[in-house]
Amino acid sequence: MVNVYSNAPVDETERQLYFLEELKKKISTINESRDDKLTCHVTTFGCQMNARDSEKLLGILKEAGFIESDEEEKADFIIYNTCTVRDNANQKVYGRLGYLKNQKKKRPDMKVALCGCMMQEPSVIEKLKKSYRFVNLIFGTHNIFKFAELVYRMLDEDTMVIDIWEDTDKIVEDLPVDRKYSFKSGVNIMFGCNNFCTYCIVPYVRGRERSRSSKEIIREIEKLVADGVKEVMLLGQNVNSYGKGIENELTFPQLLTEIEKIDGLERIRFMTSHPKDLSDELIEVMRNSKKICKHLHLPLQSGSSKILGVMNRRYTKESYIELATKIRKAIPDIAITSDIIVGFPGETKEDVDETIDVINTVKFDGAFTFVYSKRTGTPAAAMDNQVSDEFVKEHFDRVLKAVQENAKDQANKLTGKIMEVLVEDVNDHDSTMVTGRLSNNLCVHFKGDSSIIGTIKNVKLVECKDFYYIGEIV
Ligand code: 5AD
Ligand code: SF4
Repeated sequence: MVNVYSNAPVDETERQLYFLEELKKKISTINESRDDKLTCHVTTFGCQMNARDSEKLLGILKEAGFIESDEEEKADFIIYNTCTVRDNANQKVYGRLGYLKNQKKKRPDMKVALCGCMMQEPSVIEKLKKSYRFVNLIFGTHNIFKFAELVYRMLDEDTMVIDIWEDTDKIVEDLPVDRKYSFKSGVNIMFGCNNFCTYCIVPYVRGRERSRSSKEIIREIEKLVADGVKEVMLLGQNVNSYGKGIENELTFPQLLTEIEKIDGLERIRFMTSHPKDLSDELIEVMRNSKKICKHLHLPLQSGSSKILGVMNRRYTKESYIELATKIRKAIPDIAITSDIIVGFPGETKEDVDETIDVINTVKFDGAFTFVYSKRTGTPAAAMDNQVSDEFVKEHFDRVLKAVQENAKDQANKLTGKIMEVLVEDVNDHDSTMVTGRLSNNLCVHFKGDSSIIGTIKNVKLVECKDFYYIGEIV
């Protein structure tokens, strides 16, 4: 018998396409011996980066011959693409694994794979090896491109297959992707993060910054547009440092300018921007653009310069306000949203007051507020002035209230206007309505049916419901 492994090509894309072919044969043989076809289900935890990775996983599985199952419960192959940015994300995964452990007793042929950020933590792998032996495949963030090969191995071997890399400089292009939406898509422009904010585990689990080549990015977007995509979301932990350290590579604003030229593409979004790296050049490009959406996600984390210093954010309360003011002046109809953490070590009532002051001064159009979560291995976890649960209980709601009040005020300003909406879905609660998004990312619900999904409509914003609008097509 030919050894599949020793025959595999060396070039990584070719190698994975080779394993995909081998996997197809294997799945086809398995399917022939059963009444129905093998099914799979991918569950995504965490951010848009993970959502994009899940589309890549599903692309490979479908190409290999798996049928996507709507229900995890019934799938033959269950994949959890995990997040570890806060501890509650980890707890959710353990909770669901506990349930799967019982399921596996009833359905021993069911396969389970775990991947994503949580798998890059050595303590997690130890725990899985000890208490969750039924898991069939574990891999991390750096070798997700090897999925075809790993699934092949999983079906070939009877043991727990574990493949975790500490880091990588590899970016593998041209593997299959199964997009969730036909008309919009995430596009990775860079991976990893070099910032080492002291509370954050991302640099440890996603590795150092690596930018994709602008040529590859543009080629991917051109292909997506030819396939019906109208809106792209450029993804990176810190998009403003795109291209840094690579000779002759475009800067982020230059990349945006090139993407703008792609005919047929209507909207460009991106996330996340680090305030310390946001250049005047970017503001200028956004101001002059017809396609870049009027939305900037600009994580503040804290409004206290003292806390920002300990967080290693490398900006101050004053410089953040100055930046936000400059952006609002240059692009008056832009929405600025943010991320805020409450309960960082050493935080006092006065620090929280400063955060609320920034919220009220910048008038965020929205913000995610997070309770600080201690992540083992980060500098903040070792700080001896961790704050109490009582402190968080007392102050979190104050921050949330300020965020919500500002978000409502900002949203209300648009009542009566006619604006372009990209229609995304039939409304969850009322099938005579559709749901779409304004350029500034606000949701609008209005009468319509599935035939207009993926098109841009002019909609009058009739009634503001605090964080979304009820509109009328005009
Ligand atoms: N605790 C709470 N929130 C965190 N974030 C990152 N690390 C932590 C942590 N340890 C938040 C930040 C970041 C967002 C993606 O998650 O606000 O911007
Ligand atoms: Fe984490 Fe800071 Fe990097 Fe964002 S910029 S991923 S918060 S380390």
